[in-house]
Amino acid sequence: MDFTGKVAVITGAASGMGAATAREFNAAGGEVVIVDRNGELAAQVAAEIKAGPPLVGNVGDSAFCQKAVKTTLDRHGRLDVLVNAAGIIVRADALNTSDEQWQRVLNVNVSGVFYMSRAAVTVMKQQGQGAIVNFGSIWGEVGATGVVAYCASKGAVHQITRAMALDHVKDGIRINAVCPGEVNTPMLQSERSEPVTPELLQRLAETVPMGRLAEPVEIARVVLFLASDAASYMTGAMVNVDAGFTAR
Ligand SMILES: NC(=O)c1ccc[n+]([C@@H]2O[C@H](COP(=O)([O-])OP(=O)(O)OC[C@H]3O[C@@H](n4cnc5c(N)ncnc54)[C@H](O)[C@@H]3O)[C@@H](O)[C@H]2O)c1
Repeated sequence: MDFTGKVAVITGAASGMGAATAREFNAAGGEVVIVDRNGELAAQVAAEIKAGPPLVGNVGDSAFCQKAVKTTLDRHGRLDVLVNAAGIIVRADALNTSDEQWQRVLNVNVSGVFYMSRAAVTVMKQQGQGAIVNFGSIWGEVGATGVVAYCASKGAVHQITRAMALDHVKDGIRINAVCPGEVNTPMLQSERSEPVTPELLQRLAETVPMGRLAEPVEIARVVLFLASDAASYMTGAMVNVDAGFTAR
């Protein structure tokens, strides 16, 4: 995959799959703009891949998203790829999900994708080309216990992906979603009621047909494919990268 001369904005690029995607774009010759609310981790990834200063803020804030796209244009004069990887999880059923948690998950996971995508599409439409890859989830496709706000948010991401793909197909913009299964990132280990032990990780791995968790780079490679011209006939697709989880 060759992204020489292409500019990719990646949200959530300070950690996990966003960071893995930033590394892969960089290795493929692309210019990466890192967007994340965690300034310290974002600066580490930026230094590692020699990207410009990260844009630190909350993707759930529409004004921040518009500014992130404007700064990208000021720096690079173009925007070819947007990857929406920023996301959060609350592990609770409805009875244990507060109004604040519900609003927070929807704000980051749904509004964040919408605000960043709307800002990017404005620019991509003028350019006559562009690609967006959203992070959906297996939990956007099938249900799961104890993650109701997260499931709702990822279902919405899948539908934003389909609706925007159709709206902007004539603008030369392709919009797809990658839907990971169980991936070994800080999020996988966060917000759990029991301690994260090797036994817990093994139990999680055993829920997956391949019998193991994914490494972030295994998802990042699919993101790069979807963002590349190799995926020229793909838009509005939900691409499961889940080792067979949703095949059952
Ligand atoms: N880990 C999994 O098993 C899994 C499975 C399916 C989908 N996903 C999705 O993949 C994406 C990446 O997840 P990950 O596992 O790499 O998580 P992660 O926690 O390692 O990384 C998420 C990043 O998003 C950033 N972020 C969170 N809220 C933000 C906000 N409001 N504004 C800007 N940045 C913000 C965090 O600072 C962090 O750097 C998420 O959308 C997640 O929902 C994860």
